[in-house]
Amino acid sequence: MAQTMRKIVHANDAPLALAEAPVPEPGAGQILIRVAAAGINRPDLAQRAGMYPPPPGAPETLGLEVAGEITAIGASVSRWKVGDQVCALLAGGGYAEYALADAGSALPIPKGLSLIEAAALPETVFTVWANVFESGALRPGETLLVHGGASGIGTTAIQMAKAHGARVFATAGDDEKCRLCEKLGAERGINYRSEDFEAIAREAGGADVILDIVGAPYLAKNINAAKPLGRIVMIAQLQGAHAEINLMLIMLKRLTLTGSTLRSRAADEKARIAREVERQVWPWIEAGKVKPVIDSTFPLAEAEAAHARLQGGAHAGKIMLTV
Ligand SMILES: NC(=O)c1ccc[n+]([C@@H]2O[C@H](COP(=O)([O-])OP(=O)(O)OC[C@H]3O[C@@H](n4cnc5c(N)ncnc54)[C@H](OP(=O)(O)O)[C@@H]3O)[C@@H](O)[C@H]2O)c1
Repeated sequence: MAQTMRKIVHANDAPLALAEAPVPEPGAGQILIRVAAAGINRPDLAQRAGMYPPPPGAPETLGLEVAGEITAIGASVSRWKVGDQVCALLAGGGYAEYALADAGSALPIPKGLSLIEAAALPETVFTVWANVFESGALRPGETLLVHGGASGIGTTAIQMAKAHGARVFATAGDDEKCRLCEKLGAERGINYRSEDFEAIAREAGGADVILDIVGAPYLAKNINAAKPLGRIVMIAQLQGAHAEINLMLIMLKRLTLTGSTLRSRAADEKARIAREVERQVWPWIEAGKVKPVIDSTFPLAEAEAAHARLQGGAHAGKIMLTV
C-alpha cells in the first residue's frame, strides 16, 4: 500500500501543479479510493479564485467527484469492500491519486460505463436530482427550461428530465451547443445571443420548472417565462446575485423561487440523495437513456490546461482528469 501520492495543489495565482502528499487514511464511515478519473466542475474554478471555500473539515484539494477502486475501508462501513469499483461525490480532494469519500456518497459503477464516464456523474446527477426533481418537483408531462443546456449540469438535466417524460427547452451560447441540447432530448435549443428565451418559452405555454445558473439579469425573465405554480430553482449566479423583481407576479402566478448548494449539505443528506439517485437515475443510465457527455480528458498533471478549457467556455459537457 503506497504511503505517498501525487495530488494537484493550487495557491494564489500560480498554475495548478503536482505535489507529493501522504495518502489519507479513512476514518469511520469513509472509504479510500485509488482514483482512475476525476471530474472538473465550475465550482472548482470558484474555489480556486477564493469564492467558494471548502466547508469545515473538507480537504483544501480541488475535486468534487471521482471514480476508481476502493483500497481501504474505515470503521462502520458495511456496504463496500476493498477491490470494489465505485464513483463518489466528494467534499473535495478528487484531483489526486487517492481520495477519501463518505461511504454513503459512493455508488456502484453503472453497467456499461467506463470509469471516466462514471466519474463524470456524481456532481451533476446529485445536483440535478436535488434541484430539478426534489426542490423543483418536476413531473412527467411538465416543461423544464434549463439555462446553460450544454454545460455539465445542463446536459445531465436535459437527459434526466427527458427520461422522466418531461418536455425540455434549453438555452446555450451558440448554435452548435443548441443542436447538442436537441440531440440530448430538448425540444428546442435556444441561442440566447440571438433569440429571446422568454418569448419562446411563453409561446410554448410556459415552463413549470426553470433551472437557472445566470442569476440577476434572468430573474424577471424567468418569472415571466414560468407557468402559474411554476418553480424557479437557482444553483448559480454567473452574472450577479442582486436583482429587483415585481413581487406581485410571484403572488399572482403562485410561483416558488428556491435554490441550493450541494457541497454544504450534511453527509447523511448526501447519502439520502445518493440512495434516491441509485434507485431512480442509475436504471436510466443502464438503459442508455442518460449518458454523460464527455467534452475532453486531460492527464492529472495537465489540470491547468483542463481548467483553461473550462474557463474558455468552448466546451460542451464534462471535462475530465485521468489519473
Ligand atoms: N448549487 C449547486 O449545488 C451547484 C452544483 C454544481 C454546479 N453548480 C453551478 O452550475 C453551473 C454549471 O456548472 P458546470 O460545472 O456544468 O459548468 P460548465 O460546464 O462550465 O457550464 C457553465 C456554462 O455556463 C455558461 N456560462 C459561462 N459563463 C457564463 C456567464 N457569465 N453568463 C451566462 N452563462 C455563462 C456557458 O455556456 P454557454 O457557452 O452556453 O453560455 C458554460 O458552458 C455553474 O455555475 C456551477 O457553479 C451549482
